[in-house]
Amino acid sequence: MPGTCVVGLQWGDEAKGKIVDLLGDKFDFVVRYNGGANAGHTVVANGKTFKLSLLPTGVIRPNVRSVIGNGVVIYPPRFLEEVGQLRAGGIELSGSLVLSDHAHVIFPYHMEEERLAESGAEGKIGTTGRGIGPCYQDKVGRRFGIRVGELLHPAHLRDRLRYVVPFKNRLMAAFANGHASALKPLDPEAISDEYLGYAESIRPYVTDTSRLLQDAFRDGKRVLFEAAQGSLLDVDHGTYPYVTSSSSLPSGIWGGAGVPAKNIQRIIGVVKAYTTRVGKGPFPTELDDGPEGLGERIRKIGREYGTVTGRPRRVGWFDAVAVRYTAALAGADEITVMLLDVLSGLPELNLCTAYDIDNERTTHFPSDSFQLERCRPIYETIPGWREDITAARTLSDLPTAARQYLDRIEELVGLRVTVVSVGPDRVQTILV
Ligand code: GDP
Ligand code: IMO
Ligand code: MG
Repeated sequence: MPGTCVVGLQWGDEAKGKIVDLLGDKFDFVVRYNGGANAGHTVVANGKTFKLSLLPTGVIRPNVRSVIGNGVVIYPPRFLEEVGQLRAGGIELSGSLVLSDHAHVIFPYHMEEERLAESGAEGKIGTTGRGIGPCYQDKVGRRFGIRVGELLHPAHLRDRLRYVVPFKNRLMAAFANGHASALKPLDPEAISDEYLGYAESIRPYVTDTSRLLQDAFRDGKRVLFEAAQGSLLDVDHGTYPYVTSSSSLPSGIWGGAGVPAKNIQRIIGVVKAYTTRVGKGPFPTELDDGPEGLGERIRKIGREYGTVTGRPRRVGWFDAVAVRYTAALAGADEITVMLLDVLSGLPELNLCTAYDIDNERTTHFPSDSFQLERCRPIYETIPGWREDITAARTLSDLPTAARQYLDRIEELVGLRVTVVSVGPDRVQTILV
């Protein structure tokens, strides 16, 4: 399959990183097309754990070229830090990693704007604090956005920052709402000096990645697109406004990588065997049942703490209403069910098959947060299993109840389950 996309069908952290890594050796390119260092993708390979925020998961595979497309937002120090960490671990990226000249750059004022917005009494989203939203705002607002290619032209960059930073200082003083004295105005010259320093280190990676990918498709290369975040965090189709600021669905590929949709022939939807969410927003199947409850038990066993912020992830039952909705939007051809091992030992499992909204049953997912808040889950309860399944390598190694759970997910979502994951390691995988 020349063009394939791996996309999360819940609220992120579905273990997309593991699937991208598993498929990695079958592809020539792995491409990020949305988000930035708000993502946290974990891969466990040969006993080593890799955590990637900004770089595509392909970077740990020796023969894969990794591409950061124009739709990604870049915080240069983070980019260089990740490259440095990999280098320290023996992975040399020169030549195999490229960065779009059209990707937008995150500056200190973006972080500051986000901090001020998130520290107000109202309107919090529960973001990762990485400057993602304000950077995308500047991108679509057009007056203040600065792209990677502009970092490579010192006089131009200085001019741009001399224009942008005074505006930002005024904006932040207004945002600070009476506490402006606590804010130190940012200095355009200091920011220019800092970013021109990064620019020299970044220069070798920068290229026109859209053209590179178009050439790759023309030459019959195999390209894997790695979505960041989950489809329920997509800016258009997610649980707005509690979403991220980019298109995490495969629809983001055309805009975020410059690759026409007709090149994407296989879409792999990734789901957890249950559901998690970090940050604010409605979550109908949430297990908010206290320190002794099932939610806490699943959080502990699944180690459900954010890779980026360390925040405890909110945990709940598998929501088939939500996944049917996102699978349809994504055009998923199949699903992979991850972290099934985490559910071992629970006497019974709930699957959400419909919602009750004002005493009416619906199987439709209302993605507006104010509507979703009113939905109560309707569950189907099925038996759990006691056995440890982390050593299972084929479906027949799984207890009958675990197979029935997967069968029911298949029926409810209406897609074949092609991979089942029973542990974080590459080898802890059942290829169906
Ligand atoms: P991503 O953002 O979608 O790539 O997912 P994250 O890496 O943020 O979160 C998934 C977490 O689950 C990581 O810590 C993985 O190492 C871990 N993981 C992946 N698959 C499995 C699995 O089948 N079982 C368990 N217990 N952990 C897994
Ligand atoms: P991966 O790629 C889970 C969430 C944040 C917050 C909302 C907006 O690892 O699946 P942002 O910083 O993007 O403006 O925050 O989106 N969020 C994620 N949740 N996994 C992610 O990425 C996320 N990236 C952002 O918690 O609720
Ligand atoms: Mg993650």
